[in-house]
Amino acid sequence: MKIIKGLLAASTILATAGSAAAVELEVTHWWTSGGEAAAVKVMADAFDKSGNKWIDGAIAGGGNARPMIISRITGGDPMGATQFATGRDAEDLVKAGLMTDLTELAEKEGWADIIRPKKLLDACTVDGRVYCVPVNIHSFQWMWLNRTVYENNGMAVPQNWSEFAAAAPKLKEAGVTPLAVGGETWQIRDMSGTFVVALGGIQMYKDIYINKSVEAAASEGMTKVFKAIAEARTMVDNGYVGRAWNDATNMVITGKAGGQIMGDWAQGEFAVSGQTAGKEYDCLPGLGVHPVLDTGGDAFFFPKPNGDKPEVVKAQMELASLLVSKEVQVGFNLKKGSLPVRGDVDMASANTCMQKGLKILENLDNVLPSGEQTFTPDTQGQLEDLWVEFFNNPDISVEEAQARFVEIIKYAE
Ligand code: GAL
Repeated sequence: MKIIKGLLAASTILATAGSAAAVELEVTHWWTSGGEAAAVKVMADAFDKSGNKWIDGAIAGGGNARPMIISRITGGDPMGATQFATGRDAEDLVKAGLMTDLTELAEKEGWADIIRPKKLLDACTVDGRVYCVPVNIHSFQWMWLNRTVYENNGMAVPQNWSEFAAAAPKLKEAGVTPLAVGGETWQIRDMSGTFVVALGGIQMYKDIYINKSVEAAASEGMTKVFKAIAEARTMVDNGYVGRAWNDATNMVITGKAGGQIMGDWAQGEFAVSGQTAGKEYDCLPGLGVHPVLDTGGDAFFFPKPNGDKPEVVKAQMELASLLVSKEVQVGFNLKKGSLPVRGDVDMASANTCMQKGLKILENLDNVLPSGEQTFTPDTQGQLEDLWVEFFNNPDISVEEAQARFVEIIKYAE
């Protein structure tokens, strides 16, 4: 009898070990471009190597993915883990008690001591409890330029927005689209946000985005912003509506366009195309005017599984721990084109653009919150509608657009 009991115990342990090692987590995200896919593979490989199984749930386009992910979680069909932007994207889901609490793990691993800037972890914290793990710092405050396009047209590579705008007419004459833009609404919204800093200044950005100042929203600085957006509208090609961001990046990579205002995830596309920062392309943080970063970025949340499934929660904790580990932070961010959320890792192999970002990160005065971190999704949506309507419709005057902007900020939460 003892032998059978022994065998049963062994098989249970094996089964337990096996079942503990065999936990599959479906992970949803919207990283489907070449660079994004290469980056998320680093996470998936690390999770598989840990003895669990990453079931990839890629959904193209953040604008499509977010509502689908939210409806699955609220509809009782939760995934094991999901990307959201670091910020208020998932605030309602956390407050509804639908997300696994990571506080114990965060405290055990000292996330408060290793994640910087601290506001990345603050953005994951609700009522003192931690519900997500930030995985990168992505800033939208960048411009990407094809050096060869300017050199072939006998021009110096622009070093800031005004030089870029001054060079635009000559590029157009040469049949090159000055500014590559994709029509996904978040692209227009976030490109507009870079003008707020570049044309209005760092303090005005903080007054509006953080303090919701109506006075700043109505200021001359914002008038300059709307005028610059109206000017940018004349630099794009007619085919931008509906264009994915990475297709716009590819226009710069292939020389069909001179430059693109896009988050630093564009770097992943240059990398997979074999181009080198400082050689084929250049990068201007803060559009070369005020070198800043905004701490946009991505974080992973872990929806509570249906019913009591401790093995799933255990696998969720293992994945959360991996995502903030030194190895994954370096491997993932180097491919993603973003900056790591921890300062104690070796980023010597980062390219010159990423090194510019790391340098800016050393002075927190030049590190700004992103719109996802300062506005509710509802306010973000209102701003997105305004920016897109203004960019798409030259009949809307600067005065009319700015008046609508003031109203949105007046009631912003
Ligand atoms: C953002 C995300 C980035 C990037 C971008 C384009 O929301 O934070 O990681 O991938 O979407 O897909």
